[in-house]
Amino acid sequence: MPRLGVNIDHIATLREIRHGIEPDPAFAALIVQAAGADSIVVHLREDRRHIKERDLRILKEVVKIKLNLEMSTNDDVVKIACEIKPDQATLVPEKRQEITTEGGLDVAINFKKIKEVLRKLKQQGIAASLFIDPDKKQIDAAKRAGVKMIELHTGRYADAKGDKEQDQYFKELESAVNYAKDKGLAVFAGHGLNYYNVARVAKIKGIEELNIGYSIVCRATLVGLERAVRQMKLLI
Ligand code: PXP
Repeated sequence: MPRLGVNIDHIATLREIRHGIEPDPAFAALIVQAAGADSIVVHLREDRRHIKERDLRILKEVVKIKLNLEMSTNDDVVKIACEIKPDQATLVPEKRQEITTEGGLDVAINFKKIKEVLRKLKQQGIAASLFIDPDKKQIDAAKRAGVKMIELHTGRYADAKGDKEQDQYFKELESAVNYAKDKGLAVFAGHGLNYYNVARVAKIKGIEELNIGYSIVCRATLVGLERAVRQMKLLI
């Protein structure tokens, strides 16, 4: 059974809609941790649209399970990561206008910059992973860059239209997992996984960890709604 990393970015997205103080991602992280998750994942985006530097500092203090920071190779974010020292950093591509991380890193094209960031992270004792598409070329480049672990982007599988397309992207994912395992890499996966499409991916032998965010936060708003209304009624 793969480990579960829970991405809590969208707890902070809800907070930022009102620029307020709730819901607090640190509070959420402690609930996620108590519920049995294996790691907490946050993405400190360059535009700070959800998680802020302060959140990361507080999470580093309160989270006892693995804290995995998704980050771009931007100098400003690398500096913060090296200072706060999460347990793991996952390098992801980042475009300002995107709604979510659209694809994996192009490791081959950005090789020099990625190597430089990996060196800085290593100096600080931060384990590093690269978020890449399930593609042999990217897996080869990740291996050349010297990482010990990668996270495969499951977006194509998750967004597939119809069974045939889903089967095709499932096979692509499965063969990428096998290819990366043969190269001696630890393999994680994530993006777009939800309560309907996760079981098949969780069964792929060799995937050590799944990172899931949006669908868990969405489900939380629904399964928690009844209690929230009852608590408000009591106060009124
Ligand atoms: N893994 C990585 C590297 C990501 O960038 C994201 C999205 O922030 C996820 C996993 C989780 O994706 P989702 O929110 O769609 O579950």
